[in-house]
Amino acid sequence: KATKIIAFAGSLRKDSFNAVLVKQAAEAALYAGSEVEVVNLADFDIPLFNEELESNTPEGVQQLKDKIRDADGLLVASPEYNGSISGVLKNALDWVSRTEPDQKPAFRDTTVALLSTSPGGLGGIRGLNHVRDIFVGMGSLVLSNQIVVGSSYQAFDQSGKLTDESMASRVEQLSQELVSTIQKLKD
Ligand code: FNR
Repeated sequence: KATKIIAFAGSLRKDSFNAVLVKQAAEAALYAGSEVEVVNLADFDIPLFNEELESNTPEGVQQLKDKIRDADGLLVASPEYNGSISGVLKNALDWVSRTEPDQKPAFRDTTVALLSTSPGGLGGIRGLNHVRDIFVGMGSLVLSNQIVVGSSYQAFDQSGKLTDESMASRVEQLSQELVSTIQKLKD
């Protein structure tokens, strides 16, 4: 049975390093036999969360929510802002996490693989721990394995590929693990 993965970065920036990183992971997941859709949060019209807007869910929120509910797994690359998750990502997660009558919570039982990259030496590890806590709290199965890439300005070549081969192969392994974990859960 085909597995379906949605991949996205927690950044709206056109030249986002996290978008570049998640794209590489998405290609590896495709290679590992999964259906993969890379989405850009900037393409969804997601307002700042306000409970008052919930009586009429914004269309962009509904579109993202439907995609995530329909997927078996997620590849998420998050920037680290002030030692934590980006506001953009948290806002999107808060919207999508809201339950509707007779619908499964969108993140429950979703298998999630996490990545981050930042110009600093730690690559966003502090923020990624917060991202992990949030997904666990929403009922997702988050893989223990994760990818953290420091020195992002040096880490990627012109075509957006990781220059370090061992890091590139770790990204491949993470994506393979995501696909195989989803397959096992589906069997
Ligand atoms: C940052 N940046 C950053 N980097 C880091 O390693 N640790 C941090 O705590 C922060 N904090 C931080 C706060 C704010 C408000 C900004 C705008 C930036 C730098 C950040 O990692 C860098 O801009 C990345 O390139 C952002 O990710 P994208 O957009 O390239 O995916």
